[in-house]
Amino acid sequence: MSRAGGTPEERWTEVDEYIAGRLIGPDPEQDAGIAASDRAGLPSIQVSAPLGKMLYLLASMLGARRILEIGTLGGYSGTWLARALPADGRLITCELDQKHADVARANFERAGVRKVTEVRVGPAAETLPKLVAEGQGPFDMVFIDADKPGYPVYLEWALKLSRKGTVIVFDNMVRRGAIADATSEDASVVATRRTYDLIAKETRLTATGIQTVGTKGYDGFVLALVQDGPKES
Ligand code: SAH
Ligand code: DHB
Ligand code: MG
Repeated sequence: MSRAGGTPEERWTEVDEYIAGRLIGPDPEQDAGIAASDRAGLPSIQVSAPLGKMLYLLASMLGARRILEIGTLGGYSGTWLARALPADGRLITCELDQKHADVARANFERAGVRKVTEVRVGPAAETLPKLVAEGQGPFDMVFIDADKPGYPVYLEWALKLSRKGTVIVFDNMVRRGAIADATSEDASVVATRRTYDLIAKETRLTATGIQTVGTKGYDGFVLALVQDGPKES
């Protein structure tokens, strides 16, 4: 360990960099995309490279042809997801902020995934019913990563846009452990806990939560599978 005296956060970042160096390698397109996002003043809250690669791996394992993302930012996680799609596949990604959407479209272009990506601008709670009305479902995979208070509603629409076998990934479901605090009055924590409750009582879903550490600190994701019939556990 090169920084025996470092903080846990420094160690986690070092390890993320080690993993990315060994298993992900140079990614000039995504590096340029993040640089463009920084220049445009977007917050640097995209998924880490290892988590982005995991999204790519999941989509690849599923043979996903249609993916839905809620929360585009500059298109970093979207690029990982889109890279797993076949040439005739589709990523529809929902973003509230016009500036974020513009940066994401340019980054998708640079990354060579423009043809398989579509950014829908507006509040996701309005876009998602439109996708249902257009008959855009079912999606093979859904990645939920927008405003945390919206998660309960996004879950409801994600289910309407799913089929048996659809995988739903929820980002930021641990939040430095704050979600274990039943007394929290933080709106994001309350909504995240409500999302766990909704997943737990939804018989169409079976799920787990995984805690993570890394460049973005201590957080975690929930991985859910849409299935028929009552939950196993
Ligand atoms: N998935 C991205 C990060 C998303 S950050 C990545 O890992 O690369 C969360 C994004 O959700 C921000 O761009 C924010 O503007 C967007 N957002 C916030 N509220 C929203 C809403 N109501 N509808 C759609 N997008 C929203
Ligand atoms: C925030 C949002 C995210 O999606 C994330 O992964 C980290 C932080 C935020 O709003 O602060
Ligand atoms: Mg996130």
